[in-house]
Amino acid sequence: MRVGVFDSGIGGLSVVKSLLDSHAFEEIIYFGDTARVPYGVKDSETIIRYSLEALAFLREFDIDMLIVACNTASAHALEALRQAADVDVIGVIEPGVLALENRLPDKNSPILVIGTKATTASGQYPALLKEHGYTHIQSLATGLLVPLVEEGIFHGSLLESALEHYFSSLAVKPKAIILGCTHFPLIAKAISAYFNHEPLLIHSGEAIMQHLKERYELDYFPQTHIQYFASENPLALEKVAKEWLTHP
Ligand code: SIN
Repeated sequence: MRVGVFDSGIGGLSVVKSLLDSHAFEEIIYFGDTARVPYGVKDSETIIRYSLEALAFLREFDIDMLIVACNTASAHALEALRQAADVDVIGVIEPGVLALENRLPDKNSPILVIGTKATTASGQYPALLKEHGYTHIQSLATGLLVPLVEEGIFHGSLLESALEHYFSSLAVKPKAIILGCTHFPLIAKAISAYFNHEPLLIHSGEAIMQHLKERYELDYFPQTHIQYFASENPLALEKVAKEWLTHP
């Protein structure tokens, strides 16, 4: 299977990592829209337009499936992408909620969802969590964390100050945190440390893989061929890919 993975920037590499670990794909074509990241501060119309352009680019590669790694694009453009695509389009929001349900079935547990301004404003995660019976949901826009990750800041005092800025006002300590932005798994260690490693962290990449395993008959490929594309500064993408993915 040849899968196209689309993200607004480098954060989707956290999803690629899970896809590579699964060995379920023969070929991955990754497109990071690094020239226009972040999507999380843009309006819905723009996010849809950019997402459809990414689909048009990935279509050139004859992909069998599109994974929308970007939470912001999943929150705003999934329907438009599904209408335009002739292949299955998988977003990250539903898999994230299902992964939480598998790992934390107690519906009264306090759940924190963090994401960009646009993802938070869409209200998609809380709505789906409520549909699945969760009663105690806090949703927080933590957009400043995106440029920090894009800058390669994965730990240290700057990141810790940003976490303090966002999390110190939380009314209740979460039992689980949905990392509702592809960039956040790259700083999962710092987020977990902030909360004394107590909450369960739900990561889009793991959630997507679990979702795919439940719904598709996946083969095993010892080798995955992967191509990376970026709309700007591919070297920055390459640097993070080298740091994050052990794949040659
Ligand atoms: C962004 O582009 O603002 C972040 C990506 C995401 O929402 O996953």
